[in-house]
Amino acid sequence: MRRYDGRLVVNDVSLQVMPGQVTCLLGPSGCGKSTTLRMIAGVEMQDEGEIWVDGKLICDTVFRVPPERRHIGLMFQDFALFPHLSVGANVAFGLSGDKGEIGRRVEELLKRVGLGNYTDKFPHELSGGEQQRVALARALAPRPRIMLMDEPFSGLDNRLRDGIRDETLDILREQDTAVLLVTHEPEEAMRMADQIALMRDGRIVQQGAPYNIYNAPVDRDAVAFFSDINVIRGRVEGSLVQTAFGQFLAPGVHEGNEVDIVIRPQHMKIDFDRLGRGPDPTIEYGTPARGVVERARFMGSESLVEFRMDHDGSRLKATVPNVFLPKLGTPLWLMIRRDRCFTFPVKD
Ligand SMILES: Nc1ncnc2c1ncn2[C@@H]1O[C@H](COP(=O)(O)OP(=O)(O)OP(=O)(O)O)[C@@H](O)[C@H]1O
Ligand SMILES: [Mg+2]
Repeated sequence: MRRYDGRLVVNDVSLQVMPGQVTCLLGPSGCGKSTTLRMIAGVEMQDEGEIWVDGKLICDTVFRVPPERRHIGLMFQDFALFPHLSVGANVAFGLSGDKGEIGRRVEELLKRVGLGNYTDKFPHELSGGEQQRVALARALAPRPRIMLMDEPFSGLDNRLRDGIRDETLDILREQDTAVLLVTHEPEEAMRMADQIALMRDGRIVQQGAPYNIYNAPVDRDAVAFFSDINVIRGRVEGSLVQTAFGQFLAPGVHEGNEVDIVIRPQHMKIDFDRLGRGPDPTIEYGTPARGVVERARFMGSESLVEFRMDHDGSRLKATVPNVFLPKLGTPLWLMIRRDRCFTFPVKD
């Protein structure tokens, strides 16, 4: 737990990272990710709580192993290279032992981050992205047991990023390092993580494999963090929620209370209007509801169509693979994949 000026910034966070596994701490800007990482690294002290490594307490509020003795590798948002040292010397900084061996290790790491010929250059001669890769090589060099990474790939352009990301993970897995990686990008977390810890307002709201976080989200915001969402609000009456798309179960929600039925745009289905009639209801898709096209955009691998619904004027979105660009004002019918809906009680 950590307070700044009396405000709880990290609250009741419990995390476990396993050797050879990547855990992603994922959450919006300002939710306390970097603060959590700084406490584990030991560059900042928690106000309450304990940190253990390999069965040994390294830090509580009294006892404290200094950062340099924690065998923790760091790659921070505001990483800094030593400006007066060459790239090679930067990478070699934390290494001790045989000179020849150190030299070989430095060369190997620089090659793996795509900077094979940069050993004798100096940081000011490098682009931001190149500097970041040197910092990465430097952090990997001493083969840390635990690697803490705070948005380590944010300065790289997309194509470079994918390559460096995969390469970094390969190196870390080979070394059986436990990785805790901070990011605010859901795609990055989905791509890299064995485990995702979803953080919001200083707390971890959900923790699990990417598949579970995506397919069994704890609340509406957890769904919305990974994709656009559609929300259909309804009220529980006779233990069912009545909506234009049919009836839904809302287990555990009291009679008369409101619920949000949340569905991602890719789980909507579009059907044509046949002289004012839509498709027949099905078990898989429930009842269709009609709307008119308000906007249609081609996004590359899919098209995004936005509707204004006839029954209540609400707006819903659907994505369709490839090209589907109906004219504005076209009436169409929408159905929803019932098994892909999430139902949450409305919080006041
Ligand atoms: N030294 C500090 N003094 C006071 N407040 C701080 C300090 N460091 C961070 N904060 C506040 O604590 C909150 C959490 O900050 P933190 O850097 O952990 O967020 P974050 O999740 O890493 O965000 P981002 O994704 O933008 O990096 C923020 O509201 C921030 O303003
Ligand atoms: Mg941060």
